[in-house]
Amino acid sequence: MTTSGLSPDVELLTRLANEFFQQTGGGASSTQGPAPTLYGGWPDAPAPASPPTHGNDVPFPQFGLSGGFEPLHDVEPLSADLPGEAELRALYQAFADEFSAPEPGVPQRPSGLVPPASPSFYFLEHVEVVDPQPAQQGLAGSFDVGQIRQDFPVLNERVNGRPLIWLDNAATTQKPRCVIDRLKYFYEHENSNIHRAAHELAARATDAYEGAREKVRGFLNARSTNEIVFVRGATEAINLVSQAWGRQNIGKDDEIIVSWLEHHANIVPWQQLAAEKGARLRVIPVDDSGQLQFAEYVKLLGPKTKLVSFTQVSNALGTVTPAKQVVEAAHAVGAKVLVDGAQAVSHLAVDVQALNADWYVFSGHKVFAPTGIGVLYGKEALLNEMQPWQGGGNMIQDVTFERTVYHPAPARFEAGTGNIADAVGLGAAIDYVLSIGRDRIAAYEHHLLSYATRHLAEIPGVRILGNPHGATSHDKAGVLSFVLAGHRTEDVGAALNREGIAVRSGHHCAQPILRRFGVESSVRPSFAFYNTCADIDALITVLVRLAATKKGEIT
Ligand code: ALA
Repeated sequence: MTTSGLSPDVELLTRLANEFFQQTGGGASSTQGPAPTLYGGWPDAPAPASPPTHGNDVPFPQFGLSGGFEPLHDVEPLSADLPGEAELRALYQAFADEFSAPEPGVPQRPSGLVPPASPSFYFLEHVEVVDPQPAQQGLAGSFDVGQIRQDFPVLNERVNGRPLIWLDNAATTQKPRCVIDRLKYFYEHENSNIHRAAHELAARATDAYEGAREKVRGFLNARSTNEIVFVRGATEAINLVSQAWGRQNIGKDDEIIVSWLEHHANIVPWQQLAAEKGARLRVIPVDDSGQLQFAEYVKLLGPKTKLVSFTQVSNALGTVTPAKQVVEAAHAVGAKVLVDGAQAVSHLAVDVQALNADWYVFSGHKVFAPTGIGVLYGKEALLNEMQPWQGGGNMIQDVTFERTVYHPAPARFEAGTGNIADAVGLGAAIDYVLSIGRDRIAAYEHHLLSYATRHLAEIPGVRILGNPHGATSHDKAGVLSFVLAGHRTEDVGAALNREGIAVRSGHHCAQPILRRFGVESSVRPSFAFYNTCADIDALITVLVRLAATKKGEIT
């Protein structure tokens, strides 16, 4: 890569094109226009006809409370089973106290939750987030979920005659209008292949694609865009590391450590590699709360450990692992570390420099971006030591029939035409998330999870899988996993679907951890910042009814 972020041949073509346009006075690049772009002097693409609502350049609408509260869904109230106002206020105060209590070693979270003047059962949807250090963190304001929901067109859908309640966010998140608009804009104004041609649309598309890479860099706080490789998703990123690094560096009797929490995508590629190389897979055990047993992990580490690959947030249980400590312990024995961030990026602020893992992977579609795009972050020197795993166009500097010279990272891992538009869509999704604020999102989702856990736990026959340090713990994000005595998980999923409520029921591509808890499948509602306590009430309503029926008498 050159200083412009482009390969030398593209930069040369760009310069020649610019010289040509300057001589002829023709072409888009000779027009007066905005400051030079990433693409070495080509003008910015014109502003979208309907600019994205929440891009970084567009001020986000006010976070202020928007007046009176309206319940968002016409669900049957649970009044008979619900606590009264005094109890709700006490519950509220407990949340507020918990948020304001400093936790040793944990970054200070927003505190100071203020109930609205007229409390209602759903009052937690209007959460005022008061920043203890507003000047530093910029968190002052409130979280108006009603306004946020308006950004997600699909939330207006009806399913089985009921308003859609999307509680399957761990499987995939819904897309805000600004992401949908960004894709449309790309195809209407910018679509071209990238890094390859000296025409206007190639410049626009390249700018948009490389601009998205810069947004990802900022999102992860990577040092350089050279550390950001676009891939299809977290699964492809892990397979890339397994094949490009693992094949070179894992040998007979070496050990690869994963955890019991892993998604199949972070087990199978290492199993395949171990089988090929005669290496051994070792597994960090998990306790009954669903948390990694750190002391047991440390015992697994040794001179044979070449790699530790583990998740930051469990997709099946929601456990937030002590990622930084896991990374540090692995590095202490000279092992490399890959962190699977697929379930983390939509819930937590991630800083890859602070985390110091060698690789970090995530999928765009779990963070409000399109499907088919994801990211492999890797330390730059390490990426450049790795051999490419796929050969083709875009990743080469020079090809003869005798030999090929590869580009450095990231191009060496981006053979062929990539998913250009969806990378651009990922950039728009990142802008959107950052415009809301990741600390604010984490605080609000923590409310939802606490609220849901509390009500779910009260239903007779419900068993919640994994609950580190209790219902209000910060060691858990986004996910509740449970079984209901006397009811098959698929029947629970079907009953919820009849009420328009989408959850995942099954093994969640994480069979080992479910078996660790003695089950083959679970029901898994999973949350995003556009969910509400009303959504949770609707879920609880159905489950209360189901719990009251005998097996086989589901209504
Ligand atoms: N990995 C996704 C999930 O957990 C599909 O549901």
